[in-house]
Amino acid sequence: MSAKPPNVIALYPGSFDPITNGHLDLIQRGSRLFDKLIVSILRNDNKEPLFSVEERTEMLREVVHVYPNVEVDSFDGLLVDHATAQSATVLLRGIRAISDYEYELQMALMNRRLQPDIETIFMMANEAYSFISSRLIKQVFGLGGNITGLVPPSVEARLQRRFSKI
Ligand code: PNS
Repeated sequence: MSAKPPNVIALYPGSFDPITNGHLDLIQRGSRLFDKLIVSILRNDNKEPLFSVEERTEMLREVVHVYPNVEVDSFDGLLVDHATAQSATVLLRGIRAISDYEYELQMALMNRRLQPDIETIFMMANEAYSFISSRLIKQVFGLGGNITGLVPPSVEARLQRRFSKI
């Protein structure tokens, strides 16, 4: 690819099980950088998810509707194939700490090898959320810890309902 496309579409992939304020911060900042940002949920995740893809889609849509250029979808198979199908030329990922770097580097280099026209762009996580992950949120909440301020209120309410059923 030689020239910058007129509209830069970025794809922000992940499990989002559930979305945290760290993800949301990245979405908000990404929405200012790109013409369109697609938040893409991985469907065929090996991890046993707490929320179905449909529930995660709903949760994401509830919080991103305030950003007119942000869309939510889901994908199976190779990320670069999905990005190509969506005409995305950028993959957006967040880095919280140096421990994220190795995994992210591996994925970025593999994705570049698979599809050299797609560029991975990393943004540093907001320091206020750099210690949180969906995994930790579920663990702490499940053990009765306070997660207020770390996930959107609508997500906290869903966690409350989900854990009261278990
Ligand atoms: O934030 P997560 O949950 O670690 O996201 C991981 C994700 C979805 C970005 C990654 O697992 C992925 O891209 N899966 C799709 C399969 C793929 O394309 N693999 C080759 C590139 S490493």
